[in-house]
Amino acid sequence: MLLSSSMPPKMILAAFFVIFSLKFYSAKSETWVQGGYWLSGSGFPSSDINSALFTHLFCAFADVNSTSYELLLSDSDEKEFSNFTDTVKQKNPSVSTLLSIGGANADYLTFSTMVSNSSFRKSFINSSIKTARVYGFRGLDLCWVSANSSSDMYNMGVLFEE
Ligand SMILES: *[C@@H]1O[C@H](CO)[C@@H](O)[C@H](O)[C@H]1NC(C)=O
Ligand SMILES: *[C@@H]1O[C@H](CO)[C@@H](O)[C@H](O)[C@H]1NC(C)=O
Ligand SMILES: *[C@@H]1O[C@H](CO)[C@@H](O)[C@H](O)[C@H]1NC(C)=O
Ligand SMILES: *[C@@H]1O[C@H](CO)[C@@H](O)[C@H](O)[C@H]1NC(C)=O
Ligand SMILES: *[C@@H]1O[C@H](CO)[C@@H](O)[C@H](O)[C@H]1NC(C)=O
Repeated sequence: MLLSSSMPPKMILAAFFVIFSLKFYSAKSETWVQGGYWLSGSGFPSSDINSALFTHLFCAFADVNSTSYELLLSDSDEKEFSNFTDTVKQKNPSVSTLLSIGGANADYLTFSTMVSNSSFRKSFINSSIKTARVYGFRGLDLCWVSANSSSDMYNMGVLFEE
């Protein structure tokens, strides 16, 4: 979903697995999204990213708190994520950054429970938008790769709508 502080919540839109297969048309030209993930803890400093090669960069991965269902960042990730946007914009001021949540190590039950309950979804949505805005991200990316039932899929759709 893309965030903008000037947009009403209902206009905050879109699922990011779509982004790689979409062409965006504008009046004068067409532009492809060139996206890349940066993984914290990979040993590759965000300051070494050649962000001029990208239109979108995904800062990965934040987690979900299994009790409160709020966005969860470890102290060390918080330090890295908080200046990710400023760091990558030094080489490409127009790059859009997205805060990515989940990943292969994310706990299935936490995500499945979060999407199934409206008050848990609210905690997640509220806290993730807040953190993304505080750290200057343009949007959020939900990377829940272990979703594996029709109710997971349905509930994830409800989450995106909300
Ligand atoms: C998760 O949320 C609970 C309730 O707010 C809090 O007590 C706990 O410290 C959080 N867990 C982590 C790992 O931050
Ligand atoms: C971003 O924060 C990390 C961790 O504190 C630090 O190592 C790095 O130098 C900072 N980068 C910038 C551009 O401030
Ligand atoms: C959501 O979770 C809350 C807190 O555990 C619970 O009170 C409520 O009944 C749950 N709602 C649904 C629809 O399961
Ligand atoms: C999160 O919820 C609190 C309390 O309901 C509210 O004050 C705050 O504006 C909400 N933040 C977002 C980003 O929705
Ligand atoms: C979905 O994945 C979880 C975690 O791997 C597993 O525990 C659960 O049994 C799976 N559910 C289905 C319907 O395959």
